[in-house]
Amino acid sequence: MELDTSGVVLAAGVGKRMQSARSKVLFHAAGRPLLAYPLRALSGLGLARAVVVASPGNRDEIADVLESLRPDLARLDTTVCLQPEPRGTGDAVRAALPALSSSWTLIAYGDGPLLLESDLRALCHAVEAGGTELALLTCELAAPAGYGRVLCDERGMVREIREERDLTGDAERAITLVNPGIYLVATALLREAIASLQPNNAQGEYYLTDIVAFASQRGPVVPVRGDASALAGVNDRKQLRDVEKLLFERIAERHALSGVTLHGDAFIDDTVTIEPDAEIGPGVVLRGKTHIAAGARIDTGSVLTDAEIGVGAWLKPYSVVNESRVGKGAVIGPFAHLRPASHIEAGAHVGNFVETKAATLGEGAKANHLAYLGDVDVGAGTNIGAGTIICNYDGFAKWRSQIGAGAFIGSDSQIVSPVSIGDGAYVATGSTITADVPADALAIARSRQVNKEGYAASLRARLRGRAPKK
Ligand code: UD1
Ligand code: CA
Repeated sequence: MELDTSGVVLAAGVGKRMQSARSKVLFHAAGRPLLAYPLRALSGLGLARAVVVASPGNRDEIADVLESLRPDLARLDTTVCLQPEPRGTGDAVRAALPALSSSWTLIAYGDGPLLLESDLRALCHAVEAGGTELALLTCELAAPAGYGRVLCDERGMVREIREERDLTGDAERAITLVNPGIYLVATALLREAIASLQPNNAQGEYYLTDIVAFASQRGPVVPVRGDASALAGVNDRKQLRDVEKLLFERIAERHALSGVTLHGDAFIDDTVTIEPDAEIGPGVVLRGKTHIAAGARIDTGSVLTDAEIGVGAWLKPYSVVNESRVGKGAVIGPFAHLRPASHIEAGAHVGNFVETKAATLGEGAKANHLAYLGDVDVGAGTNIGAGTIICNYDGFAKWRSQIGAGAFIGSDSQIVSPVSIGDGAYVATGSTITADVPADALAIARSRQVNKEGYAASLRARLRGRAPKK
């Protein structure tokens, strides 16, 4: 970008239409707060500086968001200015003025997450072409309700913006050219225009949009046509839902174009990374810092949060993975639940109705059916039988157990932690293990079987004699 430009993002509004105690710009869509999206677009444009206008109620949270976005904002340096009271978008920009030193200012609203870098570029080019001190994005909407309308003169230059509530007559209401709220303006002109604002409108607010009429008295105000699908703002939760759908679609397309196979609709947060040749099934939800490596396959309905999935791993349908790692070629599910700090090493199997928590499964280890593996390290190649439970909790503290490599834990065993089971050990089916098992030992901890010959038949005869007559 050639112009010396700073960004301003407005985020101090009350967001009444959200009907929430929470600040609107902090609502999430596709895994990021709304505010993050315009900031990323400004950063993509190559700006060095952006001022975020916050309210006394959300400034701390906004500071946290900015901190967490640091790695995503390249060289964009952000500062927060405070608007003490929500007296309108013009008043919000007034709060940012002391922090502005660049010749040009690019203003965006914090509630417009679909904003595209390409539209911002077009706006910059319009100003770089010369002859104007204010250019703004516009778009044509078949249903323009709720947006400020753009009124143009006979030369096609913008004369003013009229807010919906201040429209008079059907002719004005029929105008379909709307104001998405993205302005590139000479900072000196902006200062003068803001100083001239009056709250003489239906809402009694200082409208930023009134800077347009001010500027059009001085010279041409250039409208730059933007992508209508990228300029929607979020005022209520219906719009939040609509916008999130579009974001999910945009994110899915981005992955598809970079070599990921996607079947049907997946819900992939903007923060997720996926390598080429991975395959994502319908209804999959990928959240947070999840990373999917090449060739991994995430099947229908699986929900992953902050998960790291290795090369060629296969998550069968309806697996849930939280803050955990799945190694190369491992096979998980269907219906497996990996809770935080589970590390499933290469080639290991975690089957249906198996729950793990803070558990390590070594290379090639298997727990294929119905087990609880909490606070345990399982060595490479070990087999955990169906129905095995690690009893890690005594009602007061969690305890950890170790199971060595190449061991075999028979079905329906209970391992009462803390115990250590050595390499190559064998635990007989149905055992309750309360003491360490040495390497290569066989542990049997169950009562011995007794067969009483003919007892079942005589028991039956006795019970039949006692039954009431029908
Ligand atoms: C605004 C525009 C409207 C445009 C629409 C596009 C004005 C007067 N109107 O209307 O022309 O079509 O956006 O989406 O600008 N904010 C503050 N302080 C305030 C008030 C608002 O920081 O005192 C912030 C909000 O947090 C929000 C943004 O400014 O991020 C826009 O405010 P909002 O109330 O949503 O404006 P709209 O009514 O949508
Ligand atoms: Ca809005």
